[in-house]
Amino acid sequence: MEEAASKAAELLRNASHVTVVSHIDADGITAGSLASLALDDSKISHEVIFIKKLDSAFADELRAKKPETVWFTDLGSGSTDVLGGLKGVISDHHKPLECEPKTNGKKKTLFDYDDSGCEDFIQVNPHMAGRDGGTDISGAGTAYLVARAMNPELRRFAHLAIIGAVGDMQDRENGRLTGTNRQILVDALDFGVLEVEEDVNLFGRETRPIWKMLQYASDLNIDGVTDDYRGSMEFFMGLGINLKKGENWRAWVDMKKSERKLIISALEKLVPRDLFIGEVYLFPLEKKATELHEAKECATLLNSCGRYDAAKLGMDVCKGDRDESLDLALGLRKGHRRQLIDSLKIMEATGISQMEYIQFVHVGSMIRDTIVGTVAGMLFGSGKIDDRKPIFALAEADDGIKISGRGTRILVNAGLDLSEVMRQATQKLGGAGGGHNIAAGATISPENVNQFLEMANEIVGQQLS
Ligand code: C5P
Ligand code: C5P
Ligand code: ZN
Repeated sequence: MEEAASKAAELLRNASHVTVVSHIDADGITAGSLASLALDDSKISHEVIFIKKLDSAFADELRAKKPETVWFTDLGSGSTDVLGGLKGVISDHHKPLECEPKTNGKKKTLFDYDDSGCEDFIQVNPHMAGRDGGTDISGAGTAYLVARAMNPELRRFAHLAIIGAVGDMQDRENGRLTGTNRQILVDALDFGVLEVEEDVNLFGRETRPIWKMLQYASDLNIDGVTDDYRGSMEFFMGLGINLKKGENWRAWVDMKKSERKLIISALEKLVPRDLFIGEVYLFPLEKKATELHEAKECATLLNSCGRYDAAKLGMDVCKGDRDESLDLALGLRKGHRRQLIDSLKIMEATGISQMEYIQFVHVGSMIRDTIVGTVAGMLFGSGKIDDRKPIFALAEADDGIKISGRGTRILVNAGLDLSEVMRQATQKLGGAGGGHNIAAGATISPENVNQFLEMANEIVGQQLS
């Protein structure tokens, strides 16, 4: 990947204008920000475009602008078949279209993929180095490798790649970042832009009242406590913890050492420790007890922008705006939290339908297409649905039906590859799809929904057999 990143850096440094195209989620926003910071640093004129997905319609629009050099971040590798006529760099972690090198008998290198449908792009992608893009490195991480190759000083922005990885939940299975993410983490530590602690890693440790942090802990399932504000408050009160200091609710970061110990040992009696303890990534240059001080909260802040058509705002915050952009982003975040909570209820209430190898739920227009995947993932984590089958959540979008697939590590280890399901199904039915083995998405036309589900059921059945 480093070798590819150097080649990419050279290409970009010699460009006179670069069009950066990135994804709207936290990983995409941090990836686009890293690209923009790197191009600023090299004084290369550029623009950044954020999109929900890369399909032939967008590629046509882009081609019409006749861009000189294009830099795709956090997307691109799964769509090289529609990129003809464009050239530049792809730094991405999604499964590439063709993953098998054409040259046989030789050791696989990144460059054996050069003729795999897109010779006009230099790709920095973990899959091409034999790694799993779901866990090894994020889109922001791959953009960071390119930025670092353009100028090693840009390591001072390594924390943005940490936010991207955490935003994509790459720390979820092990309670910590692993693989190439670990090297980026070391850069961030060396530059003093990151601190790592082993601690409670539930969402909201910096800014949420502790009882809310526990009530909404989507990976925990404690009867009468999670999902129940009164039960959650009583849990803490029963331990003698003051929920308030003066007028203000106390967050996890406001707890004294002795209080933390007490809470952790009480939780340990109810749920496995690894569900709530793990590495926490903190940014010492930001103000403590704010959304910007911790990676998960920061990623959620960025998702609050991107998933509501304001990805650029998120990028301004990443690039350093702490005034107006931050205020606006904080405003969006309130609505985003509410939407996630309400949407989770809607999805549960809609009811999950069962097929032999998969389960699915169609929420129509009740949940935004941009968050339906996040919500499906939350439902999975909550232990409220069968975790022996992957889930496909469907929602109406402007241009068809958006489908988000989510699986578990156990299923992936047993052969599940949702990106392959999306790809095969869309190849047959039309539309665009791809992603990772554990999480993937697609858009198809409404009349193909039943056929899609039947195909998905069949493909998953084959994968798991
Ligand atoms: O677009 P992208 O690569 O950025 O998103 C990755 C997706 O994979 C996220 O939606 C994330 O929630 C999901 N994921 C998951 N379980 C994991 C790791 C990632 O659902 N263990
Ligand atoms: O949209 P959703 O959160 O379900 O996406 C899950 C994963 O699939 C993400 O990594 C996303 O980038 C990817 N995806 C894709 N092509 C699509 C839709 C989603 O590669 N058309
Ligand atoms: Zn990503």
